[in-house]
Amino acid sequence: MSEPNKNYRVGLGVCGGIAAYKAIEVLRLLQKAGCDVRVAMTRHATEFIRPLTFRALTGAYVLVDDYDEGNPDPIAHINFSQNIDLLLIVPATANTLAKFANGIADDFLSSTYLAANAPVMVAPAMNVSMWNHPATRRNIETLKDDGVRFVEPVAGELACKTVGTGKLEDVENIAEQALKVLSLESLVLSQKSKTQDSRLRTHDLKDENILLTVGGTREAIDPVRFISNHSSGKMGFAVAEAAAARGARVTVVRGSTAVEPPAGVEVVEAVSAQQMFEAVIDNLVRASVFIGAAAVADYRPKNVAETKIKKTNLDSLTIELEKTPDILANVAERRHENLLVVGFAAETNDVAAYARAKLERKNLDLIVANDVSRKDIGFGADDNAATLITRTTAVELPRMSKRELADKILDEVLRLRRQQ
Ligand code: PMT
Repeated sequence: MSEPNKNYRVGLGVCGGIAAYKAIEVLRLLQKAGCDVRVAMTRHATEFIRPLTFRALTGAYVLVDDYDEGNPDPIAHINFSQNIDLLLIVPATANTLAKFANGIADDFLSSTYLAANAPVMVAPAMNVSMWNHPATRRNIETLKDDGVRFVEPVAGELACKTVGTGKLEDVENIAEQALKVLSLESLVLSQKSKTQDSRLRTHDLKDENILLTVGGTREAIDPVRFISNHSSGKMGFAVAEAAAARGARVTVVRGSTAVEPPAGVEVVEAVSAQQMFEAVIDNLVRASVFIGAAAVADYRPKNVAETKIKKTNLDSLTIELEKTPDILANVAERRHENLLVVGFAAETNDVAAYARAKLERKNLDLIVANDVSRKDIGFGADDNAATLITRTTAVELPRMSKRELADKILDEVLRLRRQQ
């Protein structure tokens, strides 16, 4: 099991179901991994297992109801929810999922859910018919849309003796998933202002329709040869993955790439600059953000030989090149009111100055200036370093993974959107 590197605070919510006793094992595993766990129970959960058990194991008061006489804190659901790094519900019943999905806050746990800024993970357990019921399915979809993570129940014999999906996932796996979320969140937060609402960030692009170009283009010389460049597609796909994870609808116009697209994005294939241009224009009307991450050839052979060019006795061969359409500049020219246009600048010297000139010439909102002369960043590498330049700001970012940089770029896109 992966170990968190600091004392994470977990709010463990326990609902009323046969599997409630398994929450004790999850609690112990999280404590062993160094987490500080506080427990909240629904009233029904206390029918299955006594709060005293959790109190003995955590040394802390177990919250069931804000109004309980023994509750030492008059606004407990706010204080509890604001002082945790993860709210983990084990087991989550159909009733609690329904309340969470509909914003009902009629007990301590559901009020805590509404007030929590921390990420939320639920491990449901219930009868198979309840799990499959359209109402539960709807609630699950809503919660997923709201950014709630699920540790899905597994198939097996249930407490009611029926067989099907609804059995609580293995406790080791629940603890493992929780620790993963904690580590991921801490990575994100260490790169970002601690005040950012991490749960909101996961869905902060849900209203955006992002159109991206990714990879290199291939410009045919003859049927077997082409002009291209070293773009692997890693940077563009990192942006696509980050945008999809944050709730955006993502369409990628993909040129030649060495890596596979991430899940959850629509991919349109294009080989040459001309094909990429046409695919972008076809998809532009739906887009609210255009990001040109592709390394598009600026020039292509003016005449493409129909058959393979043969070697001759001549020592040199001249291929005349002509300009390709500038996709980014065309998009900016056709922009509708809401469209944000983001370019990349691949430079080998005077990176920021050349990038700023491109921002102005192509009329962009943002340009990501990266130095492609370095081996450790840029083309093909897993890392990148960039300066994010807008009309009024320039933020120099240190070397980081392309995935992390992708989130930084999207943060900047959102900042520009909010300024509109
Ligand atoms: O794919 P990786 O291996 O991960 O590498 C990532 C990257 C270095 C390719 C990427 O980060 C990057 O810099 N992409 C842009 C490369 C590029 O073509 O830069 P440029 O300075 O030549 O072009 C400026 C901008 O105009 C770019 O947004 C480009 O997509 C766009 N352009 C250029 C020419 C053209 N005909 N049409 C365009 O849209």
